[in-house]
Amino acid sequence: MQYWHEHSGDCRGEEPVNTVPVIAIDGPGGSGKGTISKEVARRLGWHLLDSGALYRLVAFQAQQRGVDLDDEPAVAALAERLDVRFDTATSEERIWLEGVDVTTAIRAEACGVAASKVAAISGVRTALTARQRSFRQPPGLVADGRDMASVIFPDAGLKIFLTASVEERANRRYKQLNGKGISVSLRALREDMADRDKRDSERPVAPLRACSDARVLDTTDLSIEEVVSTVLGWALDTWPQVIGQQQGSE
Ligand code: DC
Repeated sequence: MQYWHEHSGDCRGEEPVNTVPVIAIDGPGGSGKGTISKEVARRLGWHLLDSGALYRLVAFQAQQRGVDLDDEPAVAALAERLDVRFDTATSEERIWLEGVDVTTAIRAEACGVAASKVAAISGVRTALTARQRSFRQPPGLVADGRDMASVIFPDAGLKIFLTASVEERANRRYKQLNGKGISVSLRALREDMADRDKRDSERPVAPLRACSDARVLDTTDLSIEEVVSTVLGWALDTWPQVIGQQQGSE
């Protein structure tokens, strides 16, 4: 079953001109976005925006402070004041919230579910918009999320929508969590994932959608390397001079 809908427009808006190239990679959880975005950014030497981490951080802080996720103004106020630092100095990125390392804590499945609720609050999305755009710095940005192409970077030169079957996405998440020693039921994961897809794609603000000007790539039967090569090939087609020069100077 297709759980996302197409935008009717081409998702190009009236944004201030910023010539720094952006690859927008959107798609549902488990589609491989995180892994692919990280690897593409590493190989190009570009910056990386993990926008899902921002929603996870807001949800995490709300839970820590006992803020009810239904109290929209209170949650939006947290998003406005989020004191976060992404530390990319080492190959393993660390995320600090008010000086505390929360890199692992925000990856918990419960935090993902709470993040999906927080992400449906329009005040939260507005509060996080400028912060996300500030990641667009030379030489380029790979932006990973749900609304990177449609809302945050509508002028991105390359827009990609990654997808995979719900079964495959649940399997991937299962292996990932098992690898970290976290025991979960595959069936519960599949149900969570389907619920989350529904909530993310049916919410009125910035729903998970493939833009009509995005390239859709189904990763169900592809290896990570195959997806990375496809994306890099598209990037080279889009910015032959920029990327050709970078690869030539490696
Ligand atoms: O990609 P992730 O699992 O870390 O994202 C956590 C939640 O945040 C997910 O349910 C959808 C939401 N999200 C969003 O609404 N918009 C984004 N740009 C990124 C994530």
